[in-house]
Amino acid sequence: MHQIPWKEQVMGTSCDQRALVLGVLIVCCVLFRCSATLWETNALLVVNASHTSTRKIPEKLFGVFFEEINHAGAGGLWSELVNNRGFESGGQHSPSNIDPWTVIGNYSLLRVSTDFSSCFKRNPMALRMEVLCDNDGPNICPVGGVGIFNPGYFGMNIEQGKSYNLVLYIRSLGSINVSVSLIDHSGTRTLATTNIIASDVSNWTKMEVKLEANGSDSRSQLLLRTNKKGVIWFDQVSLMPMDTYKGHGFRKDLYKMVADLKPGFIRFPGGCFVEGEFLRNAFRWKETVGPWEERPGHFGDVWFYWTDDGLGYLEFLQLAEDLGASPIWVVNSGISHQESVEPNNLMPFVQEALDSIEFARGDRNSTWGSVRAAMGHPEPFELKYVAIGNEDCWKPYYIQQTYPAFYNAIKKAYPDIKIISNCDGSDTPLDHPADLYDFHLYQNPSDMFSMADIFDPTSRVGPKAFVSEYAATGKDAGQGNLLAALGEAGFLIGLERNSDIVEMASYAPLFVNDFDRRWNPDAIVFTTSEAYGTPSYWMQHFFAESNGATLLKSTLQANSSSSLEASAIVFQNPVDKANYLRIKVVNFGSSTVSLKIVIDGLDPNLLGTSGWKTILSSANVTDENSFEQPKKVSPVKSLLEKTGTNMDVVLLPHSLTSFDVLTKSDITQITVDDNWYVSSM
Ligand code: AHR
Repeated sequence: MHQIPWKEQVMGTSCDQRALVLGVLIVCCVLFRCSATLWETNALLVVNASHTSTRKIPEKLFGVFFEEINHAGAGGLWSELVNNRGFESGGQHSPSNIDPWTVIGNYSLLRVSTDFSSCFKRNPMALRMEVLCDNDGPNICPVGGVGIFNPGYFGMNIEQGKSYNLVLYIRSLGSINVSVSLIDHSGTRTLATTNIIASDVSNWTKMEVKLEANGSDSRSQLLLRTNKKGVIWFDQVSLMPMDTYKGHGFRKDLYKMVADLKPGFIRFPGGCFVEGEFLRNAFRWKETVGPWEERPGHFGDVWFYWTDDGLGYLEFLQLAEDLGASPIWVVNSGISHQESVEPNNLMPFVQEALDSIEFARGDRNSTWGSVRAAMGHPEPFELKYVAIGNEDCWKPYYIQQTYPAFYNAIKKAYPDIKIISNCDGSDTPLDHPADLYDFHLYQNPSDMFSMADIFDPTSRVGPKAFVSEYAATGKDAGQGNLLAALGEAGFLIGLERNSDIVEMASYAPLFVNDFDRRWNPDAIVFTTSEAYGTPSYWMQHFFAESNGATLLKSTLQANSSSSLEASAIVFQNPVDKANYLRIKVVNFGSSTVSLKIVIDGLDPNLLGTSGWKTILSSANVTDENSFEQPKKVSPVKSLLEKTGTNMDVVLLPHSLTSFDVLTKSDITQITVDDNWYVSSM
C-alpha cells in the first residue's frame, strides 16, 4: 500500500500533525474498511483554520461579463419590444430595408418606402406610408385597415394586466386616425388597442399612449394601421413594458438571475462586439448616449445583428450601479478584427476613451458629465477599471504604440483608474505597465478542470490577472452540461486558491436568446418570456459568497486516480450576519468518493452541530437544463448532520458539493500574508 502514489493536489505541504492523521487513516482503512474499490476513492481534506493560514479573497473576485452577443441586450435584458424602432437597420440609404417591419396590405392599397425626412439628425431615416384606400369611395380599405407591423425580437411578450408605453413620432399633411394594437402571433386575438387621432401633425409630433393588455401571448406583434387615405411618416416607434427593474429598462426576470450571482463587477459591452469586424461597425459609446430617439443604432458585424443601442453606455453604467457591481469598461482601442489604426491617427480614439471616463465620472458641469446629468444621473458613476481593447495584444501596434498611448493618457488624467492590458502576463511578466492583464480561457471540460493550477507557477509580483472570459466549450460541453460546469468549478477553485494574483473572473457569454444562438454554451438561456440557467450558471452560485471571504489553507490528499479539487472559506452571511465555514469539493471523476474532512487548529466548540450540504449533480454527466426541465441540473440543498472538526462525507460521482457549517464566532483573524501559498510550495 505504501507504494500508492499520493498526490498533494491543493495547497502547501502537510505538517506533521496532518501526516499523522493521514497515516492513521490509511492504517485504519487497510485494517478494517477498505475494499480495493473504496481504497481507490478515499481521500482526505485537511483544512487549517488557524489564524496564520488565512487570506482575504478579493471583494470582486467573481463577477459577470455582459456582451451584446446572442441578442443578450437587444431583445434580451433590454426590455424594448420594437426591433428597428427608427427604421435605420437597413442602412442610411434610400430605399432602405425596413426589416423586420412588414407591410399590411398590398400595393394597390398602400405604398411604403423610406426617406430622409426624420427630425433626428443622427438617424435621418423615416418611414413614409402612402395610403391609397379610404373608408369610403372606390378603393375601400380592408377591415382593420392597412399599415405596418413589427414582430419585435422573435415576438413580443405581452402579459395580461400589464401596461406598455408606446411612443412614436408621426407627421402627416392631413388629419390622422391610426389604430395601434397588439395582437397575438396568429393574428386572431387583439390583446390591447387604442387610436391615435390628431388633426394637425404637419410637423413631426411625439405621441405617447399607454396600452393595457387584456390577454397574453409571448410572441405578439405591434400593428400600426389606418383606413384613411393620405400620407403618414413614422419614426422612432418604441414599446416599453412599464414593469422593468426600477423603471431602468432591464427585463426583471433576467436582471434577477444576474443579481442572484451577487457579481462583484460587470465587464461590458464585449468582447468582439467592442472591436467590430470593421471599425465602422464597432461599439461607439457616444452614439449610444443622449435621448434614445436620437441614437443612430448600429449593426454589430461580429455577431451579425442590428441594435438600436437602447442599452447604451449610460444604461450599462446604471446596470452596474443597480447590481452593486464595479463597472469594467472595455474601450475600443482603434483596433477591429480587420484593422489597426496607425499610431499617428490614434489620438481621436484615445480622446474618445478619455471622454467616456469624463462621461462616467466627471462633474455634472463638465462637458461629458453634463450629458450624463441631462440623462438623469447627475451623480458620477464609480468607474475604476478600463480595459484597453479586447483580445488585441497581438494585433499591429498594440504593444508598442496603441496600448501605451491609452495607458499614458488615462493615467495622466485619472491616476486612480486601473488599466487592463490585453496581453497575458501569467507566463511571462508583461513588458509594459498595467494594473491587470486580461486572460481568456475556453477549453474542453476536462482540460478546464486540469487548469485549476494554471496560475500556481505565476509570479507573485506585477499586475494581477483578470480572467474576464472562461468557459468549458466543445463537443463534451454540449449546450452547457454538467460536465462543463464541473470542469469550470474545478478551475474556479484554482482561482480562489490563487486569488492573491487573480483579482477577478467571469464566465462567458452570460446570455443567449434561444432564437439566436451565436455562441455556445452560455450561462442563461431565454426566450421572450422564459429563462433558465445552465449548469454553469448554477455552478457560479457556489462561488457567490467567496467575494471578500476568508480563504483557509487546505490540503487535499487523494490517490492519483482521483479527480478532486477543494477549497475552504469563511464568510459572513450579510442577511443574518452569521459566520459560516464553507468547504467546496468538485468530484470530476465517475466514482463515489469517501472523503474525510479534518479541520485543524480550531476549537470544536466553535462549530455548530449541523449545517447545510448543497450538491450540483445529475444522473448523467451530459445532462443539461431546458425550458421543459429548467432545473434538472441545479443545486439541491439538504441538512448536514453531525458536523465537527472531523467529518466523513460522501461525494457523488461527477458532482460539486458545498458543506456549510455555522461557526459560533468569526473563527479567523485575518492575517494578510499573500505569500503563504508560494512559500509553502
Ligand atoms: O465570449 C465570446 C467571445 O469570445 C468574445 O466576444 C471574445 O472576446 C472571445 O473571443
